[in-house]
Amino acid sequence: MAPGLADLALNELRALARRARLPALETTPRDDAIAVAWPGDPVELHALRTVQSVARVWRFDVPRPKALLDNTAVRTLVDGLRTVVESARPARFEGLRLSAAGSGSAVMRRLAEALAAGVGLPLRDDDGDLVVRVRRGADGAWEVLARTTPRPLSVRAWRVCDRPGGIDAALAAALVRLAGVRAGDRVANPMLGGGTLLIERALAGPAACLHGVDTDLAALACAERNAAAAGVAERMVLAPGDATLSLDPTAGVDAAADGAAVDGGPRRRYDLVLVDPPWGDAVGDHVANATLYETLLRVAAAQTVTAGHLLLITHEVRLAERLLGDHPAWGVRHARRVWQGGHRPLCVVLERLPGG
Ligand SMILES: C[S@@+](CC[C@H](N)C(=O)[O-])C[C@H]1O[C@@H](n2cnc3c(N)ncnc32)[C@H](O)[C@@H]1O
Repeated sequence: MAPGLADLALNELRALARRARLPALETTPRDDAIAVAWPGDPVELHALRTVQSVARVWRFDVPRPKALLDNTAVRTLVDGLRTVVESARPARFEGLRLSAAGSGSAVMRRLAEALAAGVGLPLRDDDGDLVVRVRRGADGAWEVLARTTPRPLSVRAWRVCDRPGGIDAALAAALVRLAGVRAGDRVANPMLGGGTLLIERALAGPAACLHGVDTDLAALACAERNAAAAGVAERMVLAPGDATLSLDPTAGVDAAADGAAVDGGPRRRYDLVLVDPPWGDAVGDHVANATLYETLLRVAAAQTVTAGHLLLITHEVRLAERLLGDHPAWGVRHARRVWQGGHRPLCVVLERLPGG
C-alpha cells in the first residue's frame, strides 16, 4: 500500500478476517506493506480496497539468488505461480515479468525463463502482468513475490475515465475510512473531479445522501460515467456547482449565487465533507488557491453540522496549515502525510466547532 496508510489497511484486513470468520491474524506491518499469514483462501484478499496490490511470498533461506535455480526451488515457485494464475481466473495473465536488482544477469534471466516456461506464459520484460519480484528479506533470506492479480487492485474496474489531478482509488478508499463510514451521514464531495472520493465512499457503505458538485462540466460527466460503472450513480446527486457558493447540487446556481446563502438562510447541512481541491499543479494555480481554500472552508463550515467532519487532502501544505492553524470554525482532529503519484500530500480530518 502507499506509505502512510498501514494502520488503515491493517484495520481493513482485520475486518475482512472477521467477516470470513478467520482466527486472529499474524501480521508484520511496515510503512508500505503488511506481511500476513492469511489462514483463508488468498483470493479473499482481492476484496481489499485500501491496498495497491496483494503479493504471494515464498522465502528461501539461501545465501544467493543462484540457489533459486535449484530444481526444488524452481518446482516450488512454478507450482505456486500456477496456483496464482488459476486463482485469478476469470482474469488472465498475458506474460511473466521478473523484477529484481540485476534482473539482466544470467542467473535472473535463467530464473525468469524457467518460471515463464513452467507456468506456460511468454516472458515479457516490459509489460508482463504476472509480476515476479526477487529481493533479499530483512533477515537475509531471499524472497520471491508474485502479484496475485494481472492489474494492481488500486486500478479499479469502475474507472472508465480519468481526470487531471485525480487521486488514487486505494488512497481514496483509505481516506473515506479514516473519515468514518456512518450509514446516517449526509456526505458532500465538492470539487468532485472524476468522483474518486465519493464513489469509494459509496462503495464503503450506505449514506443518507451522496452529493457532488464541480464547476467543470467535463469533470462532472466523467464522474457520472465512473459512478455508473461502479453501480452507485443512482445513490448520488451530482450537478454543476461552485463550491465557493454552495456544496449543495440541488441548490441551483441562482439560489447559490444570491450571496445570501453564505450568510445564513435555509440551506442543506452535511455531516461529512470530503474534498480534494486543486493542488495548483495539474489543476488550478497556487495564487488563486489562497482565496479558493479560504472561501471553501467558510462555505463548508456554513453547511456542516456542529461536530460534523471535513476530510481535506492537498499538496498545498503550507497554505492549509496557515488557514487551519487557528480556524474559527474548524478544529484539526487528525493530520498525516500520505503518498500520491510522487507527491506527499497532507490529509487532515477537521471537526466542525460550535459557532465559528
Ligand atoms: C484535484 S481535482 C479533484 C480530483 C478528484 N478528487 C478525483 O479523484 O478525480 C479538483 C477539482 O476541483 C474543481 N474545482 C475547482 N474550483 C472549483 C469550485 N470553485 N467549485 C467546484 N469545483 C471546483 C476542478 O474543476 C477539479 O475538477
